Amino acid sequence: MVRPIPRNNEITFNDHEIIVSKTDKKGKITYGNEIFIRMSGYEEEELLNQPHNILRHPDMPRAIFKLLWDTVQSKEEINAYVKNLSKDGSYYWVLANVTPSFDQNDNIIGYFSVRRKPSKEAISFISDLYATLLQIEKNRGMEASIEYLNNLLKEKGVSYEEFILTV
Ligand SMILES: Cc1cc2nc3c(=O)[nH]c(=O)nc-3n(C[C@H](O)[C@H](O)[C@H](O)COP(=O)(O)O)c2cc1C
Repeated sequence: MVRPIPRNNEITFNDHEIIVSKTDKKGKITYGNEIFIRMSGYEEEELLNQPHNILRHPDMPRAIFKLLWDTVQSKEEINAYVKNLSKDGSYYWVLANVTPSFDQNDNIIGYFSVRRKPSKEAISFISDLYATLLQIEKNRGMEASIEYLNNLLKEKGVSYEEFILTV
């Protein structure tokens, strides 16, 4: 698949709208609601069975996705700000809640994500933070950006979850 060329055009959705998708255990998209499809700019058939990184924006630090996957694979939920890339190169910010889904024996069978529209203040703060993390990743690698994030949380005396929900 040809990756869209990012352009500086933000698209938004309404406060009351919720973007929903489901994936299998490997992160392949198995379901997307109408708003998910609309915001992505793809047709439903183009999204289903594709890896969720079809929406990955190059401004996103790898550290955040590592944290996301580590957390949900350990059967916990995570909240994260994500900048997504749509088919025409536009971008949109979401505050995503990602949870594992379980079978009757408590085995993970897939993942579920529900996304809301973040506040302008949160986007402004997080986009600066992510730009810093990305720069660190380019210069010194992902471990260094994870360390930077952990030090920031330590300085502020908050957990990652507290941090995300209060920016
Ligand atoms: C339920 C679920 C939802 C996800 N939603 C997104 C998303 O909206 N945008 C995104 O870039 N990655 C999302 N991811 C993470 C991707 O699977 C992937 O890790 C990420 O795009 C980075 O790509 P990479 O792992 O190939 O580096 C999601 C993962 C899961 C399990």
